[in-house]
Amino acid sequence: MKRTALYPGSFDPLTNGHLDILKRAVQMYDKVIVTVAVNNQKKSVFTGEERIELIRNSIKDFDWAGQVEIEQFTGLLINFARKKNVTVLLRGVRQISDFEYEFRMALTNRRLAPEIDTVFLMPDEQLTFISATIVKEIALWGGDLSSFVPDNVATALHKKFSD
Ligand code: PNS
Repeated sequence: MKRTALYPGSFDPLTNGHLDILKRAVQMYDKVIVTVAVNNQKKSVFTGEERIELIRNSIKDFDWAGQVEIEQFTGLLINFARKKNVTVLLRGVRQISDFEYEFRMALTNRRLAPEIDTVFLMPDEQLTFISATIVKEIALWGGDLSSFVPDNVATALHKKFSD
């Protein structure tokens, strides 16, 4: 049986932490659908299309790139998962403080869709402090992003914040 998992997030933008989770996910699943949440009520730096393009360019040279689909969605995650016939959601947990929110979200999703479970993955410990929020703050003040995000994302961030 082909196993597919959905890896949802805002990805505004993709960080090295996300990329690390994705590398682990493709070892475990035949296909991973990276699901970019577009929420018009939430302020984002990049549009859904921009975030998809950044992810696509960040992974294109990896031999597992063919296992990854990238799509955007609006609305409830479980509806998108059901539409795609996927019953596994992947989430990265960096530290205990992430866990409370993640646990609540996983149980909420399971209450709404009992057939869907959440699998938590941990990134490399060197990356546990990285977040998209921190990365945007560094970009805002023109800091060095090279150890936080892939090169194409760093370029896009610097451009966004210098516009
Ligand atoms: O990268 P993020 O911002 O931590 O991702 C959060 C995300 C997008 C996965 C979550 O907010 C989500 O699933 N949003 C879609 C709306 C939804 O289904 N909410 C119910 C789950 S509590």
